[in-house]
Amino acid sequence: MNSLKNIVYKFSSAGFRRHLGVSMGKFQFYALKAPVVGKMIWREKIKRLSDKPHHVSLELTSVCNAKCIMCPRHNMEREMKVMDFNLFKKIIDDCAELGVKRFGLNGYGEIFTAKKYYAQFIDYLQSKIPDAVIIINTNASLMWEEQAQYLIDKKIDTVHVDIDGATKKTFETVREKLNFEDVVNNTKRLIELRKAQGKILPKVRVGMIVQKENDHEYKQHYEMWKDVADYTSQDYMVSRLSSVVKYKEEKIVGHPCSLPFFDLNIWSDGNAVMCCDDWNAEEKMGNVMNSSIKEIWNNDKFKNVRKLHQEGRAAELSTCSKCDWSRPGPGWFQAHFEG
Ligand SMILES: C[S@@+](CC[C@H](N)C(=O)[O-])C[C@H]1O[C@@H](n2cnc3c(N)ncnc32)[C@H](O)[C@@H]1O
Ligand code: SF4
Repeated sequence: MNSLKNIVYKFSSAGFRRHLGVSMGKFQFYALKAPVVGKMIWREKIKRLSDKPHHVSLELTSVCNAKCIMCPRHNMEREMKVMDFNLFKKIIDDCAELGVKRFGLNGYGEIFTAKKYYAQFIDYLQSKIPDAVIIINTNASLMWEEQAQYLIDKKIDTVHVDIDGATKKTFETVREKLNFEDVVNNTKRLIELRKAQGKILPKVRVGMIVQKENDHEYKQHYEMWKDVADYTSQDYMVSRLSSVVKYKEEKIVGHPCSLPFFDLNIWSDGNAVMCCDDWNAEEKMGNVMNSSIKEIWNNDKFKNVRKLHQEGRAAELSTCSKCDWSRPGPGWFQAHFEG
């Protein structure tokens, strides 16, 4: 019965749209592997998305209960706090007017530390944009039964939990201050509760940020989660704009990037940044307290960032010059804009 529901969901328009929404990476992959299809997809996407973000990431809180060794947030100079609810409402009202449908509740904090508030935020978002696609990142340490049931009741699309070790020792070395058993049990409980209730959402992705301390366990991690979670991933860590020491050195400077064309990240103090890696808000694009999302997305600063990326001159931007994500090269990117 559950698998039938899964199939129906997959081919329903909501399921298909949600699937597409979550799969930007796949588009980029196909675009690279199949240039003709890729070209068409990008042209269409850019036509439709130019005046508004495709995805808005909201940091509901910058407070966290962990001290992960690969996360730069413990050096954060910006205020560590829960986003003001009126500010959140303003952002959501703006997004509703613009037709933004895809949200990541992410940033550099842990959503479930905002114990009294997370539901208020999500309830408001869904009341204004009932068909919003919502993706939540959590360390799962505080995702007890109450929180898990809430995520199921609210039909959250994806819950992404990174569990950076297959053993207690390794996990607790990487995710300092967290308890391995709690995180594993909380994640499994969410999946089991959902299945027991015959529900298909949230999909649960269990990932691993691969680094020196846990590289020897990535296969074990895959084996541990491949039949339990809906998705599993094992990805190398990034340096978050050269803020933490990267495990595998692979510095790529000056490549264009799709993020300034699709994503807007808004931190808990209202500052909007052009990249999810900009954890300390080094390159502010504006603040939603005094500008609308549309104004920020279309302001001269943002336009200049996109221009530099299209021209293959991203390294002229201080943030982008420190980026070490693998990006498709300038020729490819330009061809999809101009060809
Ligand atoms: C900053 S955390 C905030 C959400 C939540 N506290 C959590 O840990 O999932 C967002 C995501 O960044 C990932 N992350 C942290 N440091 C990273 C790094 N250096 N490279 C790649 N991903 C990283 C986390 O594993 C998590 O999936
Ligand atoms: S990765 Fe997440 S849980 Fe770990 S310190 Fe950063 S914000 Fe906190």
